[in-house]
Amino acid sequence: ERTQIGIVGAGPAGLMLSHLLDRAGIDSVVIDLRSRTEIEHTHRAGILEQGSVDLLVDTGVSERVHRDGYRHDGIELAFGGGGHRIDFRGLAGASTQLYPQTDVFIDLADARARDGGDVRFEVTDVSVDDLTTDGPVLRFTDAAGVAREVRTDFLVGADGSRSLCRHRVPDSECTQYFREYPFAWFGILTEAPPSAPELIYNHSPHGFALISQRTETLQRMYFQCDPAENVDDWSDDRIWDQLQTRLGANGYALKEGPITSKTVLPFRSFVQEPMHFGRMALAGDAAHTVPPTGAKGLNLALSDVRVLAEELERAVRAGDAAPLATYSERAVARVWKAQHFSYWMTTMLHTLPDATPFDTRRQEGELASVTGSTAGSTYLAEAYTGWPGAR
Ligand code: DHB
Repeated sequence: ERTQIGIVGAGPAGLMLSHLLDRAGIDSVVIDLRSRTEIEHTHRAGILEQGSVDLLVDTGVSERVHRDGYRHDGIELAFGGGGHRIDFRGLAGASTQLYPQTDVFIDLADARARDGGDVRFEVTDVSVDDLTTDGPVLRFTDAAGVAREVRTDFLVGADGSRSLCRHRVPDSECTQYFREYPFAWFGILTEAPPSAPELIYNHSPHGFALISQRTETLQRMYFQCDPAENVDDWSDDRIWDQLQTRLGANGYALKEGPITSKTVLPFRSFVQEPMHFGRMALAGDAAHTVPPTGAKGLNLALSDVRVLAEELERAVRAGDAAPLATYSERAVARVWKAQHFSYWMTTMLHTLPDATPFDTRRQEGELASVTGSTAGSTYLAEAYTGWPGAR
């Protein structure tokens, strides 16, 4: 078999790339180890930057994002006994859209099916080879058990944070940047009405909590926990007690309901540079991971592939790998801005297990500086909504 671009990973990054390439008249094969149903049921973040919404709508992937999503014009930062609103519209002239990653995935998978895209789920034995030749090869066993070999012009690793493609880049050819955090998030879904009109990022002496939403009847909430925490140790009562205590410290009361999902989410910052090797490019979580505070992961992945589609088009037309280096340079600039923003939101809002009284008071000073200053709030609003001026 032969295709122009072989893509490993059928998450939002891989599928959006395949869609954008198709619109440029370039064919691709996308493979994934997981089934479509499995990906559809993996809960991830729920906030889209305005540029991500525009990409989905303007390229014909989703009309649903406006119909089934909710526009948010700001967030609440809660600390020191009260809430402080950050007005995205007023400060940055932009909004975000509450629209879960699972729905983005469904829209993309439907769009690829509608347009005759070649997406193969549930493959096994994936390998990528000949990366430094003119014809890198993608090998796998398809869902029917048939061994396949696909010759390509270029390969893309969009295969998530445990990327198999990334591991094919020799150590001598890249630099990896890491940061670990001494906490995790306990994430829940609850069948309850919204507790507030907008998201609440809640800093408290009992630890951080984030009150997000899904629909009128389903809510998403998170609270800072120990990375070793086991969900089986957490009854609904114990979870509500934690959430109510943390939010209560700032004067909020949450509407409770049955908890239908409980997971512990890891916290890491990671970047591998450059985001290419030979005729292979890396995109999304395969190249970088951000901690979840600020919901940058999916947005970064979409912004990577928007740039990658342009540079791959040049690379295919010229039969040359040089545009992959340009892709990496263009993408990495935004990656580090998002790394800083995610790190900053995380460290500003969470409670360190070994925090001294100085650390705690300094953190409150930082939150007061941001919310009390138009300049500080504007930085937060611009970064959260995706640096609107930069588009
Ligand atoms: C959600 C997740 C985030 O990490 C965030 O910063 C905001 C919202 C969510 O899942 O809704």
